[in-house]
Amino acid sequence: SQKIYILGIESSCDDTAAAVICNGEILSNVVATQQIHIKYGGVVPELASRAHQQHIVPVVHQALEQAGITKEDLHGIAFTKGPGLMGSLLVGVSFAKSLAMGLNIPLLDVNHMQGHILAHFIEEDGYTLPTFPFLAMTISGGHTQIVKVNDYFDMDVIGQTLDDAVGEAFDKSGKLLGLKYPAGPEIDKLAKQGNPKAFPFSKPKVGGLDFSFSGLKTAILYFIQKKVKENPNFIEENLADICASIQYTIISILMAKLKKAVKETGITQVAIGGGVSANSGIRDALKQAEHTLGWTTYIPKFEYTTDNAGMIAITGYHKYLKQDFADITVVAKARLAI
Ligand code: KG4
Ligand code: ZN
Repeated sequence: SQKIYILGIESSCDDTAAAVICNGEILSNVVATQQIHIKYGGVVPELASRAHQQHIVPVVHQALEQAGITKEDLHGIAFTKGPGLMGSLLVGVSFAKSLAMGLNIPLLDVNHMQGHILAHFIEEDGYTLPTFPFLAMTISGGHTQIVKVNDYFDMDVIGQTLDDAVGEAFDKSGKLLGLKYPAGPEIDKLAKQGNPKAFPFSKPKVGGLDFSFSGLKTAILYFIQKKVKENPNFIEENLADICASIQYTIISILMAKLKKAVKETGITQVAIGGGVSANSGIRDALKQAEHTLGWTTYIPKFEYTTDNAGMIAITGYHKYLKQDFADITVVAKARLAI
């Protein structure tokens, strides 16, 4: 059968990424993570945009080279249309447009959050692809949603955060503890040595399948302020226990809503996606649910959890198969629903 090569480009936040896939298989997946934001403790949009401009040409070049193809072999260019930071998105959109125009091949616009979900359709050895319908919980620095995935491009958001995203809950609590940005992976690492029941934090009371994380952040802030007043070395002396407790609380919140979603929909195929799906605690909890609850779970490989272009390329590939091409006048959208 014919080989379809799709280049994916991702530039929605602070990672400049490019990937090539061929008929659902990944040939290259290159990510340049911007280090510049670490010293500011968060993403600075103007700096992100400038860094994307510096990285995009070498990153695309590297992706093609690693895939062992040239740009003339490509059948389509997929790019992230949104949601994300406007200045960052614009770099990817304009680059993708000019490349597609120059090569005279289709342009494929991708919703970043659909990308996090459809990353599960990247074909790998020993990995079973999900079948429709399935539930997907997208957990990242900007989003927290439970999505009912009826088909590749037919998704219903059945629950979402009313305030902060779960990644923000990790990052902001970590900042209070003096951890470097992004704090999610740091908390994950430290939590492994701590007692998850050391400091109980109360969980938010939010109805239905929605989430709220701003109350948790405030609770952690007050807790730490109080403890540090009593003992100035409280954080250093209890860092692993604090991290384990925060992570345990967040995972309990996520799992409770997932269980509710499974119960309400009757769907026991459950996938996770987005940066926070790299978290070892949520991965373990999901694996455990296979045994205790009889779910079939889909946990992405690490390289497809945080922002990457493999997920954009695979989504573009499925759009290509449907001949769902973007017009050259397509524009970036900072806000874009699934
Ligand atoms: O999907 P992503 O790369 O970017 C967005 O679209 O937001 O997600 C980034 C988020 C950050 O908040 C980061 O702290 C979090 O994912 N994250 C983690 C872990 N690895 C990344 N959170 C908890 N545990 C991890 N191991
Ligand atoms: Zn993302």
